[in-house]
Amino acid sequence: MSFWKRTVDCGSLRPAHIGQEVVLNGWVARVRDLGGLLFMDVRDRYGLTQVVVIPESDERVTATARELGAEYVLAVKGTVRQRESVNPNMPTGDIEILASDIQIINRAELPPFEIVEGSEAGEDLRLTYRYLDLRRADLQRNFIVRNHLYRITHEYFAEHHFLEVETPTLTKSTPEGARDFLVPSRQHKGKFYALPQSPQLFKQLLMVSGFDRYVQIVKCFRDEDLRADRQPEFTQIDVEMSFVDQNDVIALIEGLIARLWKEIVNIDVPTPFRRMSFHEALTRYGSDKPDLRFGMHIATVTEIVSNGGFGVFTDAIKTGGIVACLRAEGCAEYSRKTLDELTEFAKKYGAKGLAWMKFTAEGVNSPIAKFFSEAEIAAIKETSGAVEGDLLLFGVGDFERTYTILGALRTEVARRQGILDAVKNIYSFHWVLDFPLLEYSEEDNRYIARHHPFTSPMHEDIPLLDTKPEAARAVAHDLVINGYEAGGGSIRIHQNPVQQRMFELLGIDREEAQAKFGFLLDALKYGAPPHGGIALGVDRLTMLLAGTTNIRDVIAFPKTASGLSLMDNCPSEVSDKQLTEVGVAIAAKK
Ligand code: AMO
Ligand code: AMP
Repeated sequence: MSFWKRTVDCGSLRPAHIGQEVVLNGWVARVRDLGGLLFMDVRDRYGLTQVVVIPESDERVTATARELGAEYVLAVKGTVRQRESVNPNMPTGDIEILASDIQIINRAELPPFEIVEGSEAGEDLRLTYRYLDLRRADLQRNFIVRNHLYRITHEYFAEHHFLEVETPTLTKSTPEGARDFLVPSRQHKGKFYALPQSPQLFKQLLMVSGFDRYVQIVKCFRDEDLRADRQPEFTQIDVEMSFVDQNDVIALIEGLIARLWKEIVNIDVPTPFRRMSFHEALTRYGSDKPDLRFGMHIATVTEIVSNGGFGVFTDAIKTGGIVACLRAEGCAEYSRKTLDELTEFAKKYGAKGLAWMKFTAEGVNSPIAKFFSEAEIAAIKETSGAVEGDLLLFGVGDFERTYTILGALRTEVARRQGILDAVKNIYSFHWVLDFPLLEYSEEDNRYIARHHPFTSPMHEDIPLLDTKPEAARAVAHDLVINGYEAGGGSIRIHQNPVQQRMFELLGIDREEAQAKFGFLLDALKYGAPPHGGIALGVDRLTMLLAGTTNIRDVIAFPKTASGLSLMDNCPSEVSDKQLTEVGVAIAAKK
């Protein structure tokens, strides 16, 4: 069919255009038939424009207008005129189009939900009809932010002499990190490709090849349990550089972040960012990605309480545990019920109970006060920084777990106090450094790499690999923005013997290391330059820049929390023929 092509989009008309003849193309957002006048809003990606039809002036046009339903696709011819009741909330709110003719280009069934900003329709329904959901201006704005981010990123790295190189999507399965998504091979039955969790090894090999500076905006795939800020496929700005140290990587990324924030949200981000050790992040904020937009610090009180009579504390301390407390500022008013709720909350994170201490005008109020002397309570108060009106929440037990529980409580208390809402429009950027190289996995009964097995230990900690591996620190850096891990990276191991030693520590013997990572180990023998890099999470950066806390709002066709795509219904079953072709048999079919 032929249709009248637009001469202008739906977001551009201003008083300066009054009197012009125009053609709009777009969707019917809303029709209001007032009898004597008929108004409609026509929508496209650029905005909304009001169109008015005067029934007594043209019967044919009025009849067409009266046929219109929501989401019909139209062409409207008309004259731009001053609007009688100006709408200051709309960029085109000063004008309207007096329609001289209307063409219905395509009809639409009644959509399953109304397409409006801030839709309150259920998310499952919106994901099933994602193409309709994506008509919403608020979602479209997120993708405009996302594109702006791509554009600045390409420019920034080009200015810094980076080469964009594509790495494969069909790769080799490696045993480290998250679970792989597997792809069966038809030509080599019984063998599998894996989708990349990140291009980590390829970017390192590009450094061995002498590419010097690599960047790629790249999809990564991880078969892990999803959360509000995680998807099974997500996008990284993946970066690797040769002949650099950690400060070079950090400075480069700070420049990018400052540019993104300035150009996209017009915020001046001061650089350099604050740097914090992992130890401080954990023991002061209870997280390796602390939100520094508010206080509520954690204090360690193990020494102070070690002689008190509270068995829960002293027993834990005897077996190497710690006691710490969160200063819940201004929360001494919390009721018994609220404290019970916080206890339940802490239990979800693995706490066995939650001791508390209130500082009120009447003095200290706490079920555990009776176990401590006045001097001990004064010392707790001083160390925690508590003042009258504050509540202390105590954690006890294993080092990392205890701080993590208090860190979760810190966020929960901030949420209850309305602090998270109050800091909504503030951004805080910082680096977490000096991570432990390894962590012990109780589940696997061995060390695993905290970052990944290719991360370099600190030079001065290399001897510790033989004596006290758990104390060795990594040359790793995480970028944290408002409590989100926005990026992570490290300086890599570039010497074969160190990499071999690292695999040994991780319980990967020579034979397995050669089978799984032989290509890397070999490459490190042929003149590997010192190198390092980072990967930034594009989805998370976009969330932060767009001001949403839901990662699905910045991904065009996202998966649900259980990994489903509701629109095209995947994952889905495949035919027996397809399975036979790739040599796969389903073990247990329902
Ligand atoms: P890492 O695993 O820390 O490092 O990932 C880098 C960044 O990617 C983002 N990210 C995710 N975003 C959404 N959904 C997910 N499931 C998800 N997983 C990670 C985060 C994270 O900080 N190869 C290394 C990088 C390096 O060492 O250079 C890597 O992938 O923002
Ligand atoms: P009880 O002596 O059992 O009355 O406990 C006194 C206080 O200590 C209560 O507030 C309990 O919630 C708290 N508590 C008990 N067990 C633990 C624990 N394992 N860790 C932290 N607090 C605890």
